[in-house]
Amino acid sequence: MSKDEKKDGCKSVGGDSRETTDGEDRSLFSRVRAKPVTRRDFIKGVISSGATIAAVGYVSSSSGADRAWAASPGAVERLISLTVNGRTRRVDVLPQETLAMTLRYKLGLTGTKLSCDRGECGACTVLIDDVAYNSCSTLTHSVRNRNITTIEGLEGSSGQLHPVQKAFVEELGPQCGFCTPGQIMSAVALLKAHPHPTRDEILVSMSGNMCRCGSYDHYLKAITRVAQGG
Ligand code: FES
Ligand code: FES
Repeated sequence: MSKDEKKDGCKSVGGDSRETTDGEDRSLFSRVRAKPVTRRDFIKGVISSGATIAAVGYVSSSSGADRAWAASPGAVERLISLTVNGRTRRVDVLPQETLAMTLRYKLGLTGTKLSCDRGECGACTVLIDDVAYNSCSTLTHSVRNRNITTIEGLEGSSGQLHPVQKAFVEELGPQCGFCTPGQIMSAVALLKAHPHPTRDEILVSMSGNMCRCGSYDHYLKAITRVAQGG
């Protein structure tokens, strides 16, 4: 599959009706990866968040003005609870903040990588209610009351690797390793929704994750190994 096909595949994973080479409907994968947010829609969301703030005025200190701001109609509460890796985390989140920024720079979960920061490479993939999302294109406020899983949340109770992580290591998947957390999260989302995917289904499902080191075949072998129970 060429790089262009991979990029194209990423856009289709969210649910259009194009077919894989074995004739299977790609909409199958809407359960696996959320429909990618277009840059236009994402920016619209950020602008509308910003407009809410502008409407109530800018407040930066913990003064009485803060309380007045919080009580203003349309104000967005900044101190919110997020469920991340099974734990409730209280965190101060700007209205226009992306989930990738919150995870990395507020919660210290740096396993989620930021690369393109525009929904094109999949490095920032996390699970939201077991579906793969690009966290760089997801506003944190939009995922309150959802279950967020990052790469740090995959380890077992004794710290053992998740079967997908183990297979990635055994198949020598990571080269520089930068794309690996995102690749793993997408693979986990696929296998949760569809435990025994075909080769083509794996390729389509993983097409939103780029690897500059070109380790695609290693990742494919690793996911196939898990899918076959190996
Ligand atoms: S950093 Fe999110 S898709 Fe590239
Ligand atoms: S292993 Fe280096 S970018 Fe994928």
